[in-house]
Amino acid sequence: MVSVTVVVPTYKEAENIPVLVKRLCAAFASSQHNCSIIIVDDNSRDGTQNIVTNLSSEYPVKLHLREKERGLSSAVLAGFERADGEIFVCMDADLSHPPEKVIEMCDIISSGEADFVIGSRNVPGGSADSFNFYRRSNAFLARMLAFPLARISDPMAGFFAFRSQLYTTDLISQLNPVGWKICLEILVKMNPGKVREIPIIFEERLYGCSKLSFKEQINYLIHLKRLYCYKFKGIARFAVFSLVGASGIAVDLGVVYGGVEIVGVPFKFSRIAGIASAMTTNYLLNRFFTFEERPARGFFLAYLGFVIVCSLGALLNWRVSLYFHDVMSLHYMLASLIGIIAGTLINFSGSTLLVFRK
Ligand code: GDD
Ligand code: MN
Repeated sequence: MVSVTVVVPTYKEAENIPVLVKRLCAAFASSQHNCSIIIVDDNSRDGTQNIVTNLSSEYPVKLHLREKERGLSSAVLAGFERADGEIFVCMDADLSHPPEKVIEMCDIISSGEADFVIGSRNVPGGSADSFNFYRRSNAFLARMLAFPLARISDPMAGFFAFRSQLYTTDLISQLNPVGWKICLEILVKMNPGKVREIPIIFEERLYGCSKLSFKEQINYLIHLKRLYCYKFKGIARFAVFSLVGASGIAVDLGVVYGGVEIVGVPFKFSRIAGIASAMTTNYLLNRFFTFEERPARGFFLAYLGFVIVCSLGALLNWRVSLYFHDVMSLHYMLASLIGIIAGTLINFSGSTLLVFRK
């Protein structure tokens, strides 16, 4: 007999809650586990409060009402904070996650087969047929981007269970999710020994509509960047910084082309516009993405600092290229490449230690 706490974040799910609670309790009744349910509601004002109060006279369910805060991930964490089972489970309220599968997850953990179990749509036997093409291709890309962080088939999952012993205060202090991917966040930072994915058939929500928005997709990218920096430290940030640099090349060339071909500005001035544009977009991307979690400094002061650092980088780039070409007799393309790497390292060091320092 193992005690299990099921945390269910809700926002405007009044119609789904009774169905979910009843199906969950029926499943637990014919299992060897004991369950309690915590509904974490962000002040939906749709009758959720009364519904849960009524249910609680018959079922082991309680409500944690958050009046000011909003957000799926923080709601889940608030639920875990109040949970006391030997196993913690997190699932959606809208019955996209089959309640009966919770028993299988708990069996796997209590038998010691795994410490962390994910309900996945992407292992044999699982599916999400109701998803349209747009949502599917999005999910595929999202999955590829997360693969180096955790070798799982469904990093977007919101249906998971783990041994609560592993949910230490040390871990809690490191959790800092942006957006929705709380499962991925906990998994990467907990780093549990044995992870299992079991197939689920992801049903379209019973009532109401999804709250997944475009903003959440941007948040996902920021979240991934943070997890990469958590797991791979400076190497990851350097890779992101270099990607931003590469995007600057595209901006630069685009502006030069537009200046010469469309606006008709002489090349030498178009070139200035190209360089200035690339420095600006690089600055913005680095400020709001690469170093997004660092405390923001004055916008223009930091901009100036970035331009100075990058100019130093460019100077070094030039000198190093000349050295490798003229003195070491390397091919000019190879010499240029070495110069670019040297310049990027200066740009990166200056950005990390001066412009966007902690
Ligand atoms: N407390 C709280 N606060 N709950 C929220 C909030 C919020 O701000 N936003 C959403 N929820 C709850 C919903 O009420 C639901 O129970 C659950 O979180 C998931 O929200 P949905 O709106 O149903 O999201 P979805 O179906 O688009 O997303 C599901 O699939 C994604 C993968 O495609 C979720 O399982 C996600 O976790 C998963 O990433
Ligand atoms: Mn849903």
